[in-house]
Amino acid sequence: MRQHGLPTPVIDTGRPHSARIYDYLLGGKDNYRVDQQAGEDLVAAAPQERAGARANRAFLRRAVRHVVGAGLRQVLDIGTGLPHSPNVHEVALEAAPDVRVAYVDNDPIVTAHADALLRSSDAVGVALADLRDPQSVLEHPHVRDVIDFDRPVALLLTSVLHFLTDGQRPEQVVATLRDALPVGSCLVLSHATDDFADCSAAQAVYDTATTPLTPRSHTEIEKFFDGFELLAPGLVPVPSWRPDAPSGTWPATIGVYGAVARKAR
Ligand SMILES: C[S@@+](CC[C@H](N)C(=O)[O-])C[C@H]1O[C@@H](n2cnc3c(N)ncnc32)[C@H](O)[C@@H]1O
Repeated sequence: MRQHGLPTPVIDTGRPHSARIYDYLLGGKDNYRVDQQAGEDLVAAAPQERAGARANRAFLRRAVRHVVGAGLRQVLDIGTGLPHSPNVHEVALEAAPDVRVAYVDNDPIVTAHADALLRSSDAVGVALADLRDPQSVLEHPHVRDVIDFDRPVALLLTSVLHFLTDGQRPEQVVATLRDALPVGSCLVLSHATDDFADCSAAQAVYDTATTPLTPRSHTEIEKFFDGFELLAPGLVPVPSWRPDAPSGTWPATIGVYGAVARKAR
């Protein structure tokens, strides 16, 4: 595996980790005491964190159903997180049995769990690679095994770009991935925001974790869609993206924006 200038990923169970905190917030069991404590601290700082995680996951499922329903048959899910059924491949394969899915994460615990879950499936690949080095993702053999970059791809970047600081040039990362995709591909993206509530207490929790949290504004997040055309309703709080349940189910101010966009040119 090639990760230019990036440290070799290690499993650090002494510090909270974004994948395991999220797993805890979603009610999963693949987390340690430090992650549980960070999850509790987050909920104390921002009581909607748990609902935010669930709403993001529900957005992801609706968006995957949408892009597969629109005809895409390849999914590249970067920053996939610990498995939570229904996982992306389960949603996608239910919508169309010929879908292929590549899961990518830079946390060895995530990829070990995904590998164990998916060992028997030819339609799914799992790659340990880092979004901060997008070329290493695009060239990873386990990605190349399942994704043909000459055919349209649904690129999923859900709840991951806020783990890249501005200094890590997230807009350049997205542009590199976009340029590798053919016309007709889609981008599914969700991202934490501080547009509705101050996130500094939540950021303080992530400062103790392996990766800091960088919430961004609507304007900043919309820039990630350069070169794509946003599908209706545009970039909106995730519960409002084509909801399949009454929006009153969710708290009014979930601090996560989401959108789906198409590469038209
Ligand atoms: C909050 S989880 C999101 C999981 C899933 N995408 C979702 O929306 O339900 C964030 C995931 O991004 C991964 N991640 C964070 N930084 C990353 C990076 N630089 N490269 C690849 N994955 C990363 C974490 O390990 C974690 O599994």
